[in-house]
Amino acid sequence: MRQDFNHIDSVRGSLTLPGDKSISHRAVMFSALAEGESVIENCLDSLDVNSTINVFRQLGCEIEKQGKEVIVKGRGFKGFSKPSAFLDAGNSGTTARLVSGILAVQNFESVIIGDESLSRRPMARITRPLKLMGANIEASPNGTLPLKIFPSQNLRAIKYELPVASAQLKSCLLLAGLHLEETTEIIEPVQSRNHTELMLGLKVEKTEQGNLISVNKEYYPSPKNYFVPSDISTAAFFIVLALLTKNSELRISNVLLNETRAGVLEILKRMGGKIFVENVKESSGEKYGDLIVKSSALTNVEIGKEIIPNIIDEIPVLAVAGVFAEGNFKIKNAGELRKKESDRIKSLCENFKRAGLEVNEFTDGFEIAGFPNKKQNVFKSFNDHRIAMAFSVFSLISEGGGTVENFDSVSISNPDFLKQVNTITAQV
Ligand code: S3P
Repeated sequence: MRQDFNHIDSVRGSLTLPGDKSISHRAVMFSALAEGESVIENCLDSLDVNSTINVFRQLGCEIEKQGKEVIVKGRGFKGFSKPSAFLDAGNSGTTARLVSGILAVQNFESVIIGDESLSRRPMARITRPLKLMGANIEASPNGTLPLKIFPSQNLRAIKYELPVASAQLKSCLLLAGLHLEETTEIIEPVQSRNHTELMLGLKVEKTEQGNLISVNKEYYPSPKNYFVPSDISTAAFFIVLALLTKNSELRISNVLLNETRAGVLEILKRMGGKIFVENVKESSGEKYGDLIVKSSALTNVEIGKEIIPNIIDEIPVLAVAGVFAEGNFKIKNAGELRKKESDRIKSLCENFKRAGLEVNEFTDGFEIAGFPNKKQNVFKSFNDHRIAMAFSVFSLISEGGGTVENFDSVSISNPDFLKQVNTITAQV
């Protein structure tokens, strides 16, 4: 489906956005592991989280949606049953990688598959350390899905330094370690999102090599009630829209403010963005609050190496902000962008070229210069939800509007994106 957007002058009003995707996945998984009933309030209802829900249904959990709540009847320690078919992670890297850590320690065989995009993404980064733990897991010869997992008699705790700053890899190993008596230790040289650590209450020590995270069976979860704050990665699209349109003022409530995720706010504020935080609260160790965003003149700033894992999902929309800011937008040290739902460096560069911008592509980033043309440009989503939403925002800000092809991919993380745009612009 193609979606046309007209230029908008201003956004006003307030939004309550759906639950955070990373936390929703984990809340479903930890509830499924726990023995008994858990309730997840404000769980994201999107294709990616549905992939996780369906996987756990296939493993024998009863999971029911009631309005904005999800009720999970968890199976307890090693209580899952052998699935009768392949487990389909769809487009979701979080599902495939975190679930593989759980399945690697079960006493039955299973196979994880995914869609075309997920089937291109690297899985050797998880099979390598899982094998060090004694797991019997095989990826395809080129290190991708399908993942074939067999029972293993020789599981052991490991001490492992993450070679890549990836919360999915870290969480995969922590979830496998959660099933062992001995303590698994994960060293994380560069901090990535820490929801697994916070939600399971894991011990995290600061050492010279980075964070040292410890896990063993004592941390196995019990049933509980979760509240999922609104997704900051989803909010980022609306924040940029409000900053870059004139006379705008937007309130977004209950947005996740976890400091391993809030880099986008830090960068936009450094660029001159008027973003204010009110009513800060906390639930399950996760901070959240209301954001008030006002029109601002932005100037590009340097983006340091350490903050990259913290903003990895927001780089597409930060680049859009950078196009409409003073100076050139430049990002380096972000090679991981090539391993997302699409090769996001390529996707972004191609779309920016379509808007008449000068683009310089690097192996680990890109630089954009010049001014966008005033045409109604047609952008490709590359079937990548964050590219689709970033160029929807680009189109809404651009003088000539714009069109996004294969727009439907927004349903991966935010099926109601258009409705929300409509609420604050009354134009689409
Ligand atoms: C996620 C971790 C990140 C992020 C993804 C969600 C998670 O991926 O890009 O959208 O929930 O753990 P990587 O671990 O591959 O960096």
